[in-house]
Amino acid sequence: MVFYFTGTGNSLYIAKKIEEIPVSIPQIMRQEHLEFAADSIGIVAPVYGHEVPTMVKDFLKKAVFHTEYFYMILTYGNRHGGAAELAKKLCDECGVAVNYINVIVMADNWLPGFDMNEQRSMDKKVEENMAAILTDLAARKNWIAEVTDTDRTAHREFLARMSQMPPNVWQHLLRVTDACVGCGICEKVCPAGCVHVVEKRAVHIPENCQTCLACAHACPQKAIRLTIPEVNPDARYRNEHISLQEIIEANCQV
Ligand SMILES: Cc1cc2nc3c(=O)[nH]c(=O)nc-3n(C[C@H](O)[C@H](O)[C@H](O)COP(=O)(O)O)c2cc1C
Repeated sequence: MVFYFTGTGNSLYIAKKIEEIPVSIPQIMRQEHLEFAADSIGIVAPVYGHEVPTMVKDFLKKAVFHTEYFYMILTYGNRHGGAAELAKKLCDECGVAVNYINVIVMADNWLPGFDMNEQRSMDKKVEENMAAILTDLAARKNWIAEVTDTDRTAHREFLARMSQMPPNVWQHLLRVTDACVGCGICEKVCPAGCVHVVEKRAVHIPENCQTCLACAHACPQKAIRLTIPEVNPDARYRNEHISLQEIIEANCQV
């Protein structure tokens, strides 16, 4: 049993490598009762500010898992900042006995930091790295990915920068421009039900926004922009192996 969260398809692609039909966290979170039993249970999720998305944290807090082998695979784009150690701490806090946590570098979908056209053309050795992870999982390896002092310092510095900003700054990152034609794709790809089309125009409601950027990346008009500068506002990203329909099925809350 594999659970996943995705904004632009990287984590879904990895989850599908492990199991043919993985379970979407945004969809399963609509259930009252979150208790699961399986031989092995895994979570695949992106790294946001070196940690897992808020909804994944909530899932870990609420769910009860009965398994011999629990693992997490975290997809990131540039610097994981000790994500495995932070995820281990989270599991400990949630009372989840975790056997294996690994990280895998993929295209970085963080628009303020990267040009998606460049990210798409970079070879980050995803297939080789994932093959090694699959071997680990098949062997039920017990292991947490190595974290260095440089990673820990990067995370401390990140937290120090964030402490200077308003607490909900991440949720206010998105804005809808006049290029919006009200097609509603943004509404369908949002895992938290934060985008609605009102009178033929998308409206973003910051509360509960996961900042996954699914809406911005999926908008055919590139009408959803960020409130901070983007490296290339004309370039958007979706994992090449994942269709728009799959993102919609993973995330749609309407
Ligand atoms: C809000 C946000 C924060 C991110 N923070 C990090 C980060 O701290 N380190 C990193 O290497 N990548 C970061 N990324 C990039 C994603 O982790 C990466 O592209 C991931 O594979 C996306 O997965 P998805 O396609 O399943 O949504 C961030 C992306 C977003 C949208």
